[in-house]
Amino acid sequence: MHPLALFSLLTLLSTNVFGQSDPNTTYLTATALVTKNNASAFECWQLNEPFKRSSVPGVSGAQVATIGNYTDLGYTILPPRYDGGIHTAPVPQLVHYVSGLAYITFPGDDTSSAFFVGGIGGLLFAADTTGTGHITRYPSDEITVAITAPFEDGKIPGHVVLGSGACAGKQTFV
Ligand SMILES: *[C@@H]1O[C@H](CO)[C@@H](O)[C@H](O)[C@H]1NC(C)=O
Ligand SMILES: *[C@@H]1O[C@H](CO)[C@@H](O)[C@H](O)[C@H]1NC(C)=O
Ligand SMILES: *[C@@H]1O[C@H](CO)[C@@H](O)[C@H](O)[C@H]1NC(C)=O
Repeated sequence: MHPLALFSLLTLLSTNVFGQSDPNTTYLTATALVTKNNASAFECWQLNEPFKRSSVPGVSGAQVATIGNYTDLGYTILPPRYDGGIHTAPVPQLVHYVSGLAYITFPGDDTSSAFFVGGIGGLLFAADTTGTGHITRYPSDEITVAITAPFEDGKIPGHVVLGSGACAGKQTFV
């Protein structure tokens, strides 16, 4: 494994969740795939819409972020060591790896890559619908389960870009 890749994995594993400066306002922050100069790249996004306390029975008092409307939600089971090849996002969509491990790289660019560990750290906004695309591999010996939720009418949730590159170390919801 590339040393930088291992570093990003360790960073992701060790610093998944930490507090924001204002203790009463919480935002969802996650890595996004975008197209820049016809090439896919990572950005770290913080959604504009903060978490709110729910009054819905069953989750009353819990923090809920409303992050858009979706169409044709998919539940995908990727085999161990599957190679998804080079592709662009078919449509702008939320992808959440809920188990297993995904590893994303870019064709002809060794400077950027990221692991997505199934679970809380497995959230990704895939919005690189044009350009040269990205490569997704699933290198673990387990299946990777991914939920894909295309945004209705391709409408990406409002966000600020915290930085270029994946969110490793900044990915948070609390
Ligand atoms: C956060 O909420 C607590 C309890 O409601 C309140 O006492 C405190 O002043 C709030 N802090 C900020 C920075 O708004
Ligand atoms: C989602 O759909 C509801 C109901 O049609 C609408 O009120 C709301 O504005 C939509 N949200 C977004 C982000 O488009
Ligand atoms: C952008 O990338 C696509 C896919 O690789 C390619 O077909 C196209 O020629 C590129 N466009 C430019 C302007 O480089």
